[in-house]
Amino acid sequence: MLTRTKEPRVDKACRVKVWDVPVRLFHWILVSCFITAWLTLDNRYLDIHVFAGYVMGGLIVFRILWGIVGDSYARFRDFAFGWREAWNYMTMVLKRWPTRYLGHNPAGSWAIYLLLGLGLLITITGLLGMGGEERQGPLAGLLNYPQGESVIYLHEVLSWVMLGTVAVHLTGVATESILHRENLVGSMITGYKKAAQGTISAPPRRLVGTLMLVVIVAAGFSWFYGYLIETPEQPYRPFTGRQLPDNALWREECGACHLAFHPSLLPVRSWKAMMEDQSSHFDEDLFLEQEAIDKIETFLAENAAEQALTEAAWKINRNIPKTETPLRITETQYWIDKHKQISDEIWRDPKVNDNVNCAACHLDAEAGTFEDAAMRIPAGAGKSSTGIIKGIYEKITCIFSFNSSPSSIFTNKS
Ligand code: HEC
Ligand code: HEC
Repeated sequence: MLTRTKEPRVDKACRVKVWDVPVRLFHWILVSCFITAWLTLDNRYLDIHVFAGYVMGGLIVFRILWGIVGDSYARFRDFAFGWREAWNYMTMVLKRWPTRYLGHNPAGSWAIYLLLGLGLLITITGLLGMGGEERQGPLAGLLNYPQGESVIYLHEVLSWVMLGTVAVHLTGVATESILHRENLVGSMITGYKKAAQGTISAPPRRLVGTLMLVVIVAAGFSWFYGYLIETPEQPYRPFTGRQLPDNALWREECGACHLAFHPSLLPVRSWKAMMEDQSSHFDEDLFLEQEAIDKIETFLAENAAEQALTEAAWKINRNIPKTETPLRITETQYWIDKHKQISDEIWRDPKVNDNVNCAACHLDAEAGTFEDAAMRIPAGAGKSSTGIIKGIYEKITCIFSFNSSPSSIFTNKS
C-alpha cells in the first residue's frame, strides 16, 4: 500500500521516488508563473502576465486531474487529511517531533489545497477582469468596466492572500526540513526521498511530463509569436483584433492636419461644440459644408465617450464633470493623470514633438483603442527605455512599497 505512508524516522534506508515528473514540473512551473505574474503587474507587460496566468490555471486544472487519476503520492487520496489531523500534526511540530510522512504531511496538504483553490480563483477573476476592463480574452465583454474593475480588485486581494499562503508553505517546508533533517526542496527537484527498505517507488510518468512541457512550450510559442516576426516598421501589438467603428469622411476631414482623434475620446457635448465652431477650430477654419458637418457630427456622437467603447472612453467620460465641455482631450483630467509621469525631455524629443501626436507613443492611436500593450515610447526618446529589466526592478520596488500603481519609468528628471 502506498497511500498514507506514515513513517517512523528512517536511519538506514533506500532512496525512493516519491514525486513523479508531472508533480515536479507542476510545482516548479507554477512557482515560475507565480513569480512572473508578480513581476509583470505593469500593464505594459499584460501579455506576459496573462500568459503566466493561463499556464497557472492550466497547471492547476491538470494537477486536480492528476490528483484523481495519477499515481500513489500524487493522488489526493494520499494526502486527504482532515482538519483535526492537520491540527495534531501542528502540535507535534511545536513539540518538535512530528511524524514523518513520505508524501505530503497533513499541514502541508492543507496549504496545497489552499494554494490550488486560490490559484484557480485568481485565474478566474483574472479572466473575468480582463474581459471586463480590457475587453480581451475568452470572457471579453461578459462584465462591464466597473464590474471588471471590482473583479480586478478581488484578483489583487486574492493574489496577496496567495502570497501569504506561499510564505506559510515555505515556512512549513523549512521547518520540516530542519526537524527531519532532510532536504525537501531537493526532493521536489530530484523526486527522491529516503525511506525504509522495501517502500515502493512512484512510477516516474515521464511521458505525461514531456506532454506537459510540449503543450506549454507550444502555447508560449504561439502566444508570443508576434515578437519573433515584428520589424521596427511593424512592431508587434498584442491584444489586437477588436475594431472600433470607423468612418471614411471623418477620417479624411479630421485626419488632414493631425491624427483623427477617435470619437470615443471625448463626450458628445464636446464634439457638438467643436463641430458648431468648425470655422474657428483652434484658430483654423475647417471650411466644412453643412452636410459634411452633420455627417461627421453624427459619427462622432454615435461613438462618443459615453458609449464606453474602450476602457479609456469609459474612464474619460466618468472623469469629466457634467458641467464641463472640454475641447481638448489633452486637457481632460484623465489624460493629464495618465501622462503626468512623462518627462519634459520626452515631450520635447523630435520624435514626439507635441502631446497631440498620440501616434508617436501609441501604436494603435489611429485605431483609437489605446491598448496598454500598444504603448511604446519611441526608441531613443529622452533617456528612458521601456526595458523589461527596468520594469521588473520597478515592480519589485513597487511591491515592497505596497503601491498598486507603479511609478512609471518616465518620471521627471532624477
Ligand atoms: C486645418 C487643420 C485641421 C483640421 C482639418 C482639423 N483640425 Fe483639429 N486641430 C487643429 C489644430 C491646429 C489643433 C490644435 C493642435 C495643438 O494645439 O497642438 C487641433 C486640435 C484638435 C483637438 C484637440 C486635441 C487635444 O489637444 O486634445 C481635437 C479633439 C480636434 N482637433 C478634433 C478635430 C476634428 C473632430 C476634426 C474634424 C472635424 C479636426 N480636428 C480637423 C487643426 C485641424
Ligand atoms: C510621449 C508619449 C505619449 C504621447 C505623445 C501620448 N501618450 Fe498616451 N500614454 C503614454 C504612456 C507612457 C501611457 C501609460 C501611462 C501609464 O502606464 O500609467 C499612456 C496612456 C494613455 C492612455 C491610457 C491607456 C490605459 O488604458 O491605461 C490613453 C487613453 C492615452 N494614453 C491616450 C493618449 C492620447 C489620446 C494621446 C494624444 C492626444 C496620447 N495618449 C499621447 C504616452 C504617450
